[in-house]
Amino acid sequence: MDSKAQEQNWIFVAASAGTRRQSKIRHCLALAILSACTCFVLITKYYDNWQEGLFGAAPQNLDQFQKCSIKNFLDTGLPFLDSASPLPVAEFVERRNQLAEALVADGIDAFLVEPGYTFQYYANISQKDWEVWEPEERPFLMVVQPQSSAQGEISAATTFLAPSFEVERAKLLGMPFEEALAFVPWEEHWNPYETLMEAWHSNSLAGMSGQQGRAPKIMVDEEMRDFIQRGLGENGFDVIGLGGEVERVKQTKSVREIEIVRAVNTGTVEAVRAMRECMYPGLTENQVMNVLDNTLRAAGMEPFFDIVLFDEDASNPHGGTDGSKVLEAETFVLIDVGAHLYGYSSDICRTFFPPFFPKPSSPSEYAALSVDIREKLSVWDTVLEAQNQSMEFLKAGNSAASVDIAARKVITDAGYGEAFTHRVGHGIGIKAHESPYLNKGNLEVILRAGMTFTSEPGIYLVDKFGVRHEDILLVKDDGEPEVLSGIRAKGPWEP
Ligand SMILES: *[C@@H]1O[C@H](CO)[C@@H](O)[C@H](O)[C@H]1NC(C)=O
Ligand SMILES: *[C@@H]1O[C@H](CO)[C@@H](O)[C@H](O)[C@H]1NC(C)=O
Repeated sequence: MDSKAQEQNWIFVAASAGTRRQSKIRHCLALAILSACTCFVLITKYYDNWQEGLFGAAPQNLDQFQKCSIKNFLDTGLPFLDSASPLPVAEFVERRNQLAEALVADGIDAFLVEPGYTFQYYANISQKDWEVWEPEERPFLMVVQPQSSAQGEISAATTFLAPSFEVERAKLLGMPFEEALAFVPWEEHWNPYETLMEAWHSNSLAGMSGQQGRAPKIMVDEEMRDFIQRGLGENGFDVIGLGGEVERVKQTKSVREIEIVRAVNTGTVEAVRAMRECMYPGLTENQVMNVLDNTLRAAGMEPFFDIVLFDEDASNPHGGTDGSKVLEAETFVLIDVGAHLYGYSSDICRTFFPPFFPKPSSPSEYAALSVDIREKLSVWDTVLEAQNQSMEFLKAGNSAASVDIAARKVITDAGYGEAFTHRVGHGIGIKAHESPYLNKGNLEVILRAGMTFTSEPGIYLVDKFGVRHEDILLVKDDGEPEVLSGIRAKGPWEP
């Protein structure tokens, strides 16, 4: 071979070695992929079996309990959250304009409110948002006045009375306004109420009314602290408490609010159901509470109260015992829980048997139940019937009292009148307990379409157990109220 031929030969040998190496690598790669896939399939299968063992059967410890509860809840796909969304700026503008119209209807010059639930309703700022450290002694007030356009259209003109050094911080809150914020600042050594009165008379508020010759008629929110009300009164304002059309603005919910209330309340009921499936004997009330809290959080709802009571602990409607009572098969579990979503509250209650206490499936099995269990069942039914009757009366035009009276009649007729110790319900929105209140004395308050209420009758038997069913209801123009907490309880095994 000449050198050239040899060189070519070498190249050939090298090339074919290279091809062999490449095909070997390809082979290895294919093998690796195949074994990875096999491993994955095996692991998935094994994991599924393991999960089934873990979650299909009852959990045995707290960690499994929580995993099971969260999994059950997330496995629903959380469809109830779909219809709700955060409120746009326009919603707040509409609310203030409705407030302006209500002020005109009530003959009031301005509405004044401090950071809190009502401030949050009109300008998205809660007390905590403003008073980050502790309650603030310096008044920071929102003043809403009605103003009229040339066409006679009423809208809101808003001014903030604020400590001078806090004006910039107030601007940083990003309150939902389309126009630039208007301020009346007051220096530390000034009297803020006198400052407001001077601004009023010099027409330097956003929507100046300038009614000379009489004291400005102002309505203050129910959360307005006494020293501020007195300060305003002592400096020439005619101060009136919350009422009339102004109070009804917040009581009547918009479509967006209704969808949030529906989402958070339906979701809270579903969380209780998901958690219930995973309960096992020996759990304490506190352990159930913690797992339910974390289950709600897993879906983006933030619990703000969670009352878990077993048997006789539930004979006190709001509890008060230390949460250490232990779950057994025949325990009647009462859970009253609320969470927040987009600033709105849930407040629902369910009473049930744990899942490891089987539902009797034949008349003879029913007959074999103890007297205690049969009392639990009949009280459970009575409370549901009371809730049914309350719904019959929850209609536009009826009084708030009529709803309570209807539920109370059922419980009294069943012989438990003394054991229904609280009102049947309350309004619900940003705050879980809002006016109007459904008690038998509230005869003057008339229900309107768009109001949202709890109906939560209960029977509390000292040293025995307590039963309460709580759902959220929307008053309609006519007919039955709409349930905003999903599916109502069907029985102690289907809460
Ligand atoms: C209202 O406040 C909440 C919480 O602080 C915030 O997430 C939301 O974006 C605010 N909404 C508007 C319209 O500014
Ligand atoms: C209450 O209403 C529900 C739902 O409409 C119904 O299924 C149930 O039978 C009623 N309960 C009683 C005790 O009437």
